[in-house]
Formats: sequence, structure tokens, C-alpha cells
Amino acid sequence: RLALTGIATVAALTLAACGGSSEGSESGDGKTMKLALNQNEEHPSFIALEAFGEELSEATDGRWDIEVHPNATLGAQDETIQLVSDGGVDLSIVSAPQLENLNDDFVVFSLPTVFDSVESQMSVINDQEVLGDVYSSLEESSNFSVIGGLTQGARSFYVEDGPIETPADMAGKKIRVQESPVFIAMIEALGASPTPMAYGEVYTGLQSGVIDGAENNEVSYFTQKHFEVAPFWSYSNHLVGADFLIANTGTLDSMSEEDRAAFDEAWQNAADNHTELWSEATESAIADAEAGGATFSEVDAASFTEALSPLIDQFVTTDSQKALLEAIKGATE
Ligand code: GCU
Repeated sequence: RLALTGIATVAALTLAACGGSSEGSESGDGKTMKLALNQNEEHPSFIALEAFGEELSEATDGRWDIEVHPNATLGAQDETIQLVSDGGVDLSIVSAPQLENLNDDFVVFSLPTVFDSVESQMSVINDQEVLGDVYSSLEESSNFSVIGGLTQGARSFYVEDGPIETPADMAGKKIRVQESPVFIAMIEALGASPTPMAYGEVYTGLQSGVIDGAENNEVSYFTQKHFEVAPFWSYSNHLVGADFLIANTGTLDSMSEEDRAAFDEAWQNAADNHTELWSEATESAIADAEAGGATFSEVDAASFTEALSPLIDQFVTTDSQKALLEAIKGATE
């Protein structure tokens, strides 16, 4: 998985030429960390991460700053993981299923019913006392660690022809999934046909008919304009997804203790800010997508959860996966 792709190589070389390094690039007296994001400037993640950088810069008297690169300009998530590992990029936001490919304990964060709501998810996802050492588990093998998480809200299905009303309506449909075994298995469990694809390719995939539908939250549905090509949204609410901030180990190690504490505090504030922005962004995404012709249908969400529940036993098999699931359940129930 960590073999460099051509695009990632070009991006890394370009960044190296621009002075990018695992310890932030020098600008004035301070160091600026590059943060890769696949969302656009309207998305709450961009807004909260910009504020993260401002707070960090203020708290460290300009010794550290963050430059957010939106719209996947530094690469798709699997590519930015490689760049953070190599040190060409300091920080990236990546979806849980991307990390599942490096340590299968991360699968727990993408399973149906693990989190009942954004609130319960956010009450544990930045708490390493609850989660144990899963966030530091990639330091040795991949040269980065997970700093914490942001919510993706509840994910639901949307299609070009519809709406989907029951799990049986999924039969035979080609549905885009994130590149991970658990997402592939979810679509297969519903009798549909999974097509793994990077986020930035979904609009064209829908438009060209390579896929019939996808699954995501309302904010992505609107900000990526998927509603234009797949206007039938059905509230399957099949899982509450998680994004993670990952950071290159060399960059983190080059911070003084004091600056690292400021970084961690600014991150916690950014995550809280993001959660506050989330519900408002969801409401306006729904209104704006409806104005653009989308329809949002309520369906029997429990029937989707029921069809997907065997995935828990299928994917949570090792002691460490079981311990992580139990720790999350214990802290949120
Ligand atoms: C959400 C999530 C992204 C992820 C995307 C996807 O938008 O926040 O991190 O890449 O879903 O479905 O790929």
C-alpha cells in the first residue's frame, strides 16, 4: 500500500523543490507545516483547520504555522498518507478506512452502530486514554501518528435513479466506496456492487455512469456537487464516519515540549469548533442541495443497519480490535 504512486512522487519532488520537509518549511522566523485536505474551502474541515493554524501561530509567537492545501491539490488521501510518511507533507486529514489498510484496528471506526451520534463519537475520538495506543501504532512502520479525529457525520446512500427505499433496492447497483475492505463488504452485504474510487473522482464517475450512486454525508454531497448528478438521497444513516489528522513523526519531534502542548490544545479547539460548525453546515447543505433539485427521503434506517450488522463479527476478530470496540462502547454507552 505504501509504494509511491507516480502522482505522489511528482508531488513530493515538487514540495521538496519548494522547501518542504518533515520539519516544516522555514518562513520568516517560524516554520510552516503543510496540511493536505481533500475538501473545498466551504467545508467545515477547511474552516476549522484554518483557525487551527491561526491559533497555533498565535500561541507559539509565530514559531509554528499551518498552511491548509484544500481540494486534494497535494494528492488523494492514499497519496497524502505516503507524503506524510515520507515527510514531503507534514499533516493530512484522512478518512478512517484509509488507515484500516495500514493497521486493521482502525476498521472499528468505520463499522455500523459503533457510534450512535456525532456527539458520542466526538466524546471519545480525541481521548487517547479511552482509545489506547491505536493512534501511535503507525509511528514505527509508517513514520506518522494520528493526532485525533473529526466527525464525518452520518453517511447515507444517494443514487442517480431512485430513491432507494429498502436494502433490496440496492441490488445490482454500482456504488462507489472508499478504498477499504470494510466498505467493499458493506456494499456486497446489501447485494450491490462496490467500486473503490478516490473522493475527487466520484462526480465524474456518477456523471459518466461508471457508478450509479455513492454514500457520504450531506456536507460532502453538497460541497462536491454530487447532488447534481445523483439527486436521490435516502437516509440510511448506516454509520457515523471519522476523519483523522495524521502528522509526520519528524515534524512532531522537532517541536519543543511547549510548542507541542500548544499544538495539541489548538487541535482540540479545532475539533470542538468543527463539531459546532457541523450541524449548521449539514442544515445548509440540505437546503442548498434541495434548491438545486435533490430530494431527501426518509427510509427505514434500521433495515440497513440490520443487513450490515454481521460485519461486526466478520471484521472485529483480533484481541486488539475487540478491546478497542469495547473501550469505545464502554465510554459512550
Ligand atoms: C468524507 C470524509 C473524507 C472522505 C470522503 C470520502 O467527505 O470527510 O475524508 O475522503 O468522505 O467518501 O472519500
